[in-house]
Amino acid sequence: MKTFEIAVIPGDGIGQEVVPAALQVLQAVMDVHGGLKLKFTNFPWNCDYYMEHGKMMPDDGIQTLSGFDAVFLGAVGDPSRVPDHVSLWGLLIKIRREFEQVINIRPAKYFQGLSSPLRNHNNFDFIVVRENSEGEYSEIGGRIHKGEDELAIQNAVFSRKGTERAMRYAFELAQKRRGHVTSATKSNGIVHSMPFWDDVFKDVSADYPQIKTSAIHIDALAAFFVTRPQIFDVIAASNLFGDILTDLGGAIMGSIGIAPAANINLNGKYPSMFEPVHGSAPDITGKGIANPLGQVWTAKMMLDHLGEHEIADKLLAAMEQVTASGCKTPDIGGTATTREVTDAICRTLKAVTV
Ligand code: NAD
Ligand code: IPM
Ligand code: MN
Repeated sequence: MKTFEIAVIPGDGIGQEVVPAALQVLQAVMDVHGGLKLKFTNFPWNCDYYMEHGKMMPDDGIQTLSGFDAVFLGAVGDPSRVPDHVSLWGLLIKIRREFEQVINIRPAKYFQGLSSPLRNHNNFDFIVVRENSEGEYSEIGGRIHKGEDELAIQNAVFSRKGTERAMRYAFELAQKRRGHVTSATKSNGIVHSMPFWDDVFKDVSADYPQIKTSAIHIDALAAFFVTRPQIFDVIAASNLFGDILTDLGGAIMGSIGIAPAANINLNGKYPSMFEPVHGSAPDITGKGIANPLGQVWTAKMMLDHLGEHEIADKLLAAMEQVTASGCKTPDIGGTATTREVTDAICRTLKAVTV
């Protein structure tokens, strides 16, 4: 029987609360499904590590992680001690880039038992495919001059290869779902990259004549997430647009604390990384009330990635049953703690059938 080697990086803030919760759930998954073996190796790389060593991970950190089947990460960032651009570029973004995790898959759907802030909320189910390696997150730019001439420049980089790769992934995914891809664009503005984005979208869509397509400007698209989220199936978005849309996707489910994500390496050379959409939530750290559902759903995406679909589906069903039973953290209107929700998922998992 294969043992999957999982590198675990809890990170900062509530990452240190929701990652242990998700590991407890994964242990329960293994108890239920005797055929699955996951071996966890913990890496304490975070802002504490930075305060001690002046870096977010050891110099050979990437090399160390490269031998694992997957990386399971909580959240990075403790801006009261380490500037975000230092902590994020030194760990999270570094892993995404070094491991060529060029696609970020971020689902959102009506979740049983959750009171979405939307009035008509019970029928949406979409996935944002976020380009995860370039776009507005390029490393080209900087702050120049001083005094009244001071300015900052950020160059967005959209390569045909990178753009096409993300779009192709979206079309392939839509083929397995409801057959519709929406492009998040802004080609009506003076953003030079977006008419190019549209051209690539048209070129890729020509290879998928059976897939319906729409192109919607990002501003209107954000509004449609609120007023008619049911029209979406798969959404292809650039790095920054996808980032913003997916916090909104979490919010319309009920909380960003639920939203999961998977950073996918497509060429098989390096591990993929699984981390929820939310951050380290300094405002609730240490209170024991962080919602573990985002991290647990992220664990479900990792199980799918490892080919364990049946138990992954059981896990999602258990999460929905627990939520529907009213066992919920305060961000989604309940009074339960992280631990209570986690224990309930583990108990329910043992009984659930799908
Ligand atoms: P955040 O996602 O940490 O928090 C935004 C709001 O959502 C807060 O009110 C928080 O309490 C709430 N929230 C988030 N997750 C929750 C959960 N699981 N349960 C209940 N409530 C939850 O975003 P932020 O405040 O902009 O960022 C805080 C830090 O996290 C910063 O350093 C930021 O750079 C970092 N960050 C890291 C990641 C990552 O590592 N993937 C993602 C986003 C932000
Ligand atoms: C995310 C986060 C990161 C991003 C930040 C923390 C760099 O917001 O994973 O959504 O923008 O990609
Ligand atoms: Mn984000």
